[in-house]
Amino acid sequence: MESKKIGVLIGGSGLVGGTIVNFYKTRFPDTVDIRAPSSKKMSIREESDIRRYMTDVKPDFIINAAMAGLGSDGELAYAVNYLGPVNLARAANALNIPFIHISSSATLPCGENLREEDTLPLSPHLSNYAKSKLMAELTLRRMAETEGLDYTCIRLAIVYGAHDHKIQGFHRLFFSIADESMPALFTKKHTLHSYSNARKLPFFIRHVLANRAEFSGQTYNFVDRNPVDLATLILTIKSYLQLNQPKEIYIPYWLAHSGKECLDILLRLLRRIGLKATLPPELMFLDNFYKPQTLSTQKLRESSFVDPMPEETIFTRLPELVVYYLTRWSHENLISTFRETLDRDRSIGHIFSHNPEHLIDSVHSRGIGPFPDMQKKLD
Ligand SMILES: NC(=O)c1ccc[n+]([C@@H]2O[C@H](COP(=O)([O-])OP(=O)(O)OC[C@H]3O[C@@H](n4cnc5c(N)ncnc54)[C@H](OP(=O)(O)O)[C@@H]3O)[C@@H](O)[C@H]2O)c1
Repeated sequence: MESKKIGVLIGGSGLVGGTIVNFYKTRFPDTVDIRAPSSKKMSIREESDIRRYMTDVKPDFIINAAMAGLGSDGELAYAVNYLGPVNLARAANALNIPFIHISSSATLPCGENLREEDTLPLSPHLSNYAKSKLMAELTLRRMAETEGLDYTCIRLAIVYGAHDHKIQGFHRLFFSIADESMPALFTKKHTLHSYSNARKLPFFIRHVLANRAEFSGQTYNFVDRNPVDLATLILTIKSYLQLNQPKEIYIPYWLAHSGKECLDILLRLLRRIGLKATLPPELMFLDNFYKPQTLSTQKLRESSFVDPMPEETIFTRLPELVVYYLTRWSHENLISTFRETLDRDRSIGHIFSHNPEHLIDSVHSRGIGPFPDMQKKLD
């Protein structure tokens, strides 16, 4: 019998890493031993930690799903998002094993149908997050070309899924709606973005690991095929939650931007008198709410990977995610507005008038084949 493969995953307590660990632990417990050391046990900021841990464990593959918090200073972003992945890759190369690196659409400009190679130029003006993620992509590519590194870079856009303990990205937007702290729409009509389904990612990783000849040295945009209009998404979440806001009023960019500037000045003053004050995470991405960013899926579609859940989109997952997060946030006393019994029919009526495609997708994903129990009886 073939021996169990050992995989080391960094970032197992995070949204993306946690979903990958869960996938391997529930679906392949007999063939893959997935180890996910916490950052306390093995910090990728410490080269010596990486070398010691990997020498002890001798894994068959390494997956990096770690990141420093979005508001991290330059030093931390550099250490965790750049130097850490480079040192992990050096360890993987020394052990002659594949290295799977999770990257971000922050390395791409705004725009539509962006291909894998359309990255931003490296510049000092990028955010700490974008700069460090881009630097990691650049060095990993160089290591593949000059050092023979066997790696695959998987670039994610806005991720949706369960287990986001830090409430970042999409879940932060969702939280602002649930918390009724978004009075109107901070976006403009028809602003499309790409989304990545955390639940599908582990299937891709497993496929990529099993087919190194095809995927080695390559970068893939891993996003849902159809981009999503931000205002439609916000209004759909609002209908699910049966809230009265945000109102369907589009706040112009100049107004939102000047509000953010004023807040920024105020926070700077507060910091001068010694108070620790940073911009709320949702405001850091304000510009992105007004600009489209959609990633091309052509390379992914033309690869040998077959989408295990082609009908699943952010809209089809919403009902489940709404229940999951609202239950958690109200247990944690983070929100008080959630009513235990949502009037499902009223939500559906609203979605039917505003977003019928979502209802079609959601019915299709639940299944439209013949009722299997009835078929059995006829046989
Ligand atoms: N979430 C999104 O919307 C999104 C979008 C695009 C791309 N991505 C990419 O997806 C990946 C995972 O993101 P995520 O949303 O899952 O992040 P997350 O929920 O914030 O989790 C980050 C993980 O990184 C670990 N970590 C932080 N510093 C570390 C260190 N020094 N050593 C070892 N581990 C460390 C954390 O462990 P501790 O808790 O122990 O510190 C945590 O498990 C990142 O590469 C990110 O760029 C995410």
